Amino acid sequence: MELFKIVTDKNELKKRCQEVEMPLDEETKTLLLKMIDYLKKSQDDEIAKKYDIRPGVGLAANQIGINKRFLAVYIIDDKGNEIKYGLVNPVITAYSVQESYISNGEGCLSVKEDVPGYVYRHAKITVRAYDVIEDKIITIKAKGFLSIVLQHEIDHLNGLLYTDRINKDNPFIEKEDAIAL
Ligand code: NI
Repeated sequence: MELFKIVTDKNELKKRCQEVEMPLDEETKTLLLKMIDYLKKSQDDEIAKKYDIRPGVGLAANQIGINKRFLAVYIIDDKGNEIKYGLVNPVITAYSVQESYISNGEGCLSVKEDVPGYVYRHAKITVRAYDVIEDKIITIKAKGFLSIVLQHEIDHLNGLLYTDRINKDNPFIEKEDAIAL
């Protein structure tokens, strides 16, 4: 497996990533598949321990030092299904007004110490992107955890960290209509 060096420098992570030229070059395709594989293996306790890596469900290009708009996602859902994407130039084309948040807060491979607080995001989103797995432009309708993960990763491409979205004065501020995950 490819072991990526994860960028943790906040100034580097603040930069907005650049569009990827299409059609996608083979190098980026291969890299995205390696990023997905990295995430999958990071969720295996033994492998994570062996290589001293943290478990992750998403990885944006700028987290491995490439300032371009692509990202990987790897999630095992409640039913044990594998959900994986290697998305290039993702765009949120629609979103719900209703928000959701993870009640335990979010984490990030680039943020070493967890920062406590709620991160409110759109409960449902529609994302359009080229996907390396399907090898075509796809439309994803996401809700629940996947919706949160996609927004977290797209934020990275725009130079935003989850910590930027936590209310500084009241990190655990309650929003009545938001869905707790
Ligand atoms: Ni992150």
